[in-house]
Amino acid sequence: MREIGVFCGTFNPIHWGHLMLAEFARDQFKMEKVIVVTSPNPPHRSYDLLDSDDRFELVEAACKENPFFQTSRIELDRDGPSYTVDTLRQLKELEGPDCRLNLLVGQDNLPELRNWHEADGIFAIARILVATRHHQVTRQELQEELPAGASFEIIDFLQLPISSSLIRERIRQGKTLRYLVPIAARQIIETKGHYLKTEQEVHDDPCSPDDDGEYEGIPESITLDFVKEWVRPRNSEKRYRHTEGVAKIAKELAIKSHCDPFLAELGGWLHDACKETKDTILVQMARDLHVPFSSIEAQNGHLLHGPVAAAVARRDLGITHKELLAAIAEHTLGNAPMTQLSEILFLADCLEESRPKDYTDPIWKALDIDGEINFDKAIVVANDLGFEHLIKSGRTIHPRAVDVRNHYLARVKARAAFAASAG
Ligand SMILES: [Fe+2]
Ligand SMILES: [Fe+2]
Repeated sequence: MREIGVFCGTFNPIHWGHLMLAEFARDQFKMEKVIVVTSPNPPHRSYDLLDSDDRFELVEAACKENPFFQTSRIELDRDGPSYTVDTLRQLKELEGPDCRLNLLVGQDNLPELRNWHEADGIFAIARILVATRHHQVTRQELQEELPAGASFEIIDFLQLPISSSLIRERIRQGKTLRYLVPIAARQIIETKGHYLKTEQEVHDDPCSPDDDGEYEGIPESITLDFVKEWVRPRNSEKRYRHTEGVAKIAKELAIKSHCDPFLAELGGWLHDACKETKDTILVQMARDLHVPFSSIEAQNGHLLHGPVAAAVARRDLGITHKELLAAIAEHTLGNAPMTQLSEILFLADCLEESRPKDYTDPIWKALDIDGEINFDKAIVVANDLGFEHLIKSGRTIHPRAVDVRNHYLARVKARAAFAASAG
């Protein structure tokens, strides 16, 4: 009888503790292989649960060095709810009748195992291999947690003090993951910047399209063509070209970074709708539209062209999409932190091609790191160059711009510290 292990989990992310458990179980029970099955996203996933495809990519990278591990997308590719019993049935079918499936389960999961969907089916198909905590539990005690007749064994393994939550926490703190996560997975985490965002930043992110393809807070009549015509009389020819360029770059950046291209392009078209309004009028409009402003903005009315444009888009176009309005409002000074949409619009405005090359080139350079897009670094560079220009021309630097620069610099540093420790 062929023995085959089945190890299901979210693996958020996978680490040496998982791999060692699977390998020790394989060795102890003379299993031909262990199939590592990545679980899909639950309907309401927590902010720090990485998307299932990304988790699977890490699992694949981590498992590839062990010829006895086989990764499986069986639960990710299934439509509808995902039940372990279905996974086992499908694997049994694939592997043939001459094998026994061995389901690896943590002792913590045993009490609930009986309540899993078609639990009897699970016990009928598979032997349960239990990873006990601290090896302090006896066979007898485990037997009491399982239905009579369920076949089970205890895995003899080393308990490592590693957990996925510990790893996520260390990433956010810029600490090393060396010897916690296999190199290949670590490199992906580091390159893609997984787990770096805070809960607030993830929640604020508007860049996943709505399920029904509609945009709450954007009236159906607000199409790109409509907005182009609405903007035209508000812009000089030169400004209109700039606006068109910003919309184009915003869309490109959105596509590259898996943000919503429509929102980014729409933001591009709207961002400078009030750029050519006189300073004194901008201040008056800000007052009328209840846009809050400080004394710096009162003296430098042009700084209000973003917030006023957002307020006008709300009043005249009926747009109430919170993140889109924030991105328009924040495009000049930025904010700490910004949503991905705001970051895109902020950078697209800096990168529009009529701007001097000695300004745009370093930002493009900072943006693209080995083909991966890095907004944090680009925002720091854009601010630094902007500050230089303001200092040379004897102009005021807005304190918010300094906050933005420092916020993104801290993120760049955290990422660099993490990359250095990952080696
Ligand atoms: Fe602007
Ligand atoms: Fe602009």
